Amino acid sequence: MKDGISGKLIYRKNYTDYPWNVDHLEIYFDIGSENTTVRAEMEFLLKDTTKTSQDIVLNGVDLQLLSLSLNGDLLSSADYAVEGETLTIPNAPASSVIKTEVRIHPANNSALEGLYLSGTFLLTQCEAQGFRKITWFPDRPDVMTTYRVTLEADKSEFPILLSNGNQKGSGDLAGGRHWVCWEDPFPKPSYLFALVAGDLALLEDHFTTRSGRDVVLRIYVEAENLDRCEHAMESLINAMRWDEERFNLEYDLDIYHIVATNDFNMGAMENKSLNIFNSKYVLARPDTATDADYQGIEGVIGHEYFHNWTGNRVTCRDWFELTLKEGLTVFRDEEFSADMQSRAVKRIRVIRDLRSRQFPEDDGPMSHPIRPDHYVEINNFYTATVYQKGATIIRMYHTLLGEAGFQKGMKLYFERHDGQAVTCDDFLAAMADANDVNLDRFGRWYSQSGTPQVHISDHYDAATQEYTLTLEQTTPATHDQKNKQALVIPFAVGLLAADGRELPLQLKTGQDAVKGTRLLLMEEKHQEYTFINIPELPVPSLFRDYSAPVKIFYPYTPEQLATLITHDSDAFVKWDAAQRMAQSAILEQCQRHAKGLAMRLDESLLKAFRGILSDRSADPALLAEAMNLPDEDYLAEQMEVVDVDGIHAARRFIKEGLASELKVLFAERYAELNDGQPYRKSSRAMARRALKNVCLSYLLDTETGESLGAAQLKSSDNMTDTLAAIQGLVLIDSALAGTALSDFESEWRADPLVMDKWFIMQAIKPGLGTLNKVRELMQHEAFSIQNPNKVRSLLGVFSMLNPTGFHAADGSGYAFHADRVIELDGLNPQMAARMASAFNRWKRYDEDRKALMKTQLQRIAAVKNLSGDVSEIVNNALR
Ligand code: PHE
Ligand code: ZN
Repeated sequence: MKDGISGKLIYRKNYTDYPWNVDHLEIYFDIGSENTTVRAEMEFLLKDTTKTSQDIVLNGVDLQLLSLSLNGDLLSSADYAVEGETLTIPNAPASSVIKTEVRIHPANNSALEGLYLSGTFLLTQCEAQGFRKITWFPDRPDVMTTYRVTLEADKSEFPILLSNGNQKGSGDLAGGRHWVCWEDPFPKPSYLFALVAGDLALLEDHFTTRSGRDVVLRIYVEAENLDRCEHAMESLINAMRWDEERFNLEYDLDIYHIVATNDFNMGAMENKSLNIFNSKYVLARPDTATDADYQGIEGVIGHEYFHNWTGNRVTCRDWFELTLKEGLTVFRDEEFSADMQSRAVKRIRVIRDLRSRQFPEDDGPMSHPIRPDHYVEINNFYTATVYQKGATIIRMYHTLLGEAGFQKGMKLYFERHDGQAVTCDDFLAAMADANDVNLDRFGRWYSQSGTPQVHISDHYDAATQEYTLTLEQTTPATHDQKNKQALVIPFAVGLLAADGRELPLQLKTGQDAVKGTRLLLMEEKHQEYTFINIPELPVPSLFRDYSAPVKIFYPYTPEQLATLITHDSDAFVKWDAAQRMAQSAILEQCQRHAKGLAMRLDESLLKAFRGILSDRSADPALLAEAMNLPDEDYLAEQMEVVDVDGIHAARRFIKEGLASELKVLFAERYAELNDGQPYRKSSRAMARRALKNVCLSYLLDTETGESLGAAQLKSSDNMTDTLAAIQGLVLIDSALAGTALSDFESEWRADPLVMDKWFIMQAIKPGLGTLNKVRELMQHEAFSIQNPNKVRSLLGVFSMLNPTGFHAADGSGYAFHADRVIELDGLNPQMAARMASAFNRWKRYDEDRKALMKTQLQRIAAVKNLSGDVSEIVNNALR
């Protein structure tokens, strides 16, 4: 039985060292879809040399044990104890060779963890605890060993046999069978093991590392996708070069594999030299993938590659330390994307994502520090908090220490810990020691959950020409933690004169004047900063580049926001000012709507948009980000009690108002950008498409919109423009939408990734009709509840990105979704748990909706044999 099923909480403080070293693992697979036989041999050496014997504890789940021997003697079931996921051999001698033989059944594995079938090929997923579904082993990241893997299979069915490391031999066998042997010289934890067996096509390239090592790069995909791998290959090569140039890190083996699968619970997996990817993050061709897809591929390819050092060479002591590898590797992939494209645009997208996904998590029933203290099911902790907030903590080290100081810290981290399984404390110590600074207090970011709020007030004294900023930090109590401490908060600030000039910043307490941004350090709950020689009341430009992951409160006037939007030198501050202005306009109309008053569009927002639309010098992608209104969920987070329909109506009102008042400007800009040039992949071309399609989305709310959308659809030579046009027609309920969707369907019905987009366009449509549409689409031949990408595209989008559909007042959306969670739980508990989290914010709604959601949560909680995954999510939500 899984720990999760018994609902047992596992605590970080209970960590104990594994008493054995595992010297080497020799593992043999006789591969078949229905039955695979696994034989393993490993030598256990007792760490404590003063002892002569000790229990050996192994992990396993759903393994059919065929034989087990210790130092050559076959053991019978009386010689060991199996309990839950563990097998204990009592008092094994200090040197023990264990041999096991088990049978597993990949074709029946719908959880997509362990060894499973995707289409016609077999593959593994072992993070976090999937290796125990393959063989008996101490399945914990602090047990690292070398692996030699021999794969044997039918040659025509499984011509390609891959595992980690270098190929050491291969040969044919009688009966049309063959074998391949792989050896990985680097000791690794079991979660990084991988194998792939099947008939796959190959794109090959090479990379020569800085020190001259020639690395073969191979991307394996199903044959029909071979013409969609180029961008992934280019991204891989860029990532390898970038890691050498920026982090001084070189690849360490002669071969690097990427395998793409349509059946994957997550984005991708960094198994040593054998990355496995959700095909969404590999396959792209201009007519099948959007610009966002291209950028996603670059980011995820980079991410998995960067894990080779931050994750694989240095790994985590236990799963509580997950952010050690994930926060750091997300930071690295963000920097990679920023260096490859526009730094400012990338930064804004990262911040938007953090605020809309991680902030609600931190404020909800699953709130946890980036290093959690306990869990029931580790799979529930691959969260925006561990990943995205974790990356912001790494970014703060970088902000505090600078690029050079940060790299010194990284260097020391690798010098000390290469080949080890370590903790976040070790990372912090390396950063501190390398820079000779004390980071103890900074370490509170690892243990405290919740989003800090920084309330800022200011005072200008014209007589003394002094300007004082007063900062107050508080972190509200969270579901998991009542008492909060003051955190170390890097505060990057600038001051603008009314005409937009940057004022020199000189602190009253001493240092020289700085022109531009000044980095201050807030370490106490309450802090004041006084600047001297300030000739006029300035506009504060706060938390430039979003120097800390906090909620910023300052009572900006519309005039101040307008100054920042037009003049600030910091892209984040400019963007945030535009978002604030739009947000307050929408929330104000939402209030008027609730009171039955007519909504109105105020002049300041119009003026700001006029400025943005007339700006011909800024990066078009930045202008697009500024005009993308805050989404409904983010707006919902700003309300005491969420008014689902009010937010929707107010946001629509503002969008339509902007469109109709500024249609001439939108049309002009659209026409300029819609230049008929053939598709190009460059970041400049992507930026122009981004702004063009934002303009289109506004124009669709005007009289000319439908025909513009139709014309764009007709002339489009790429998926970005096609999708923007069809999605636009669907959202305005155009009579052309039906044909557009059905033409799209007939063109792409056999293409799983493109069909995901088709599902999304329909599931996201606001309003009460969509639930029935979603029911109908579940019957479509391209949909399968067994496939995570399909589940995310249809059920995930409906429940998480379609508030007016999901939150229908009669509770129909809730009941439908709860049924899906229950259905999924029997197939794929990880996916079921992710879907169940759609109910996490239930307490934020009105009494009627609260009651309806609670009923569904209780109904799920009462299901017999509910997985630990879902049980942890719903029981936390109910508590
Ligand atoms: N470690 C993977 C990554 O972030 C994510 C992952 C976790 C994939 C668990 C599969 C299973 O790169
Ligand atoms: Zn990762």
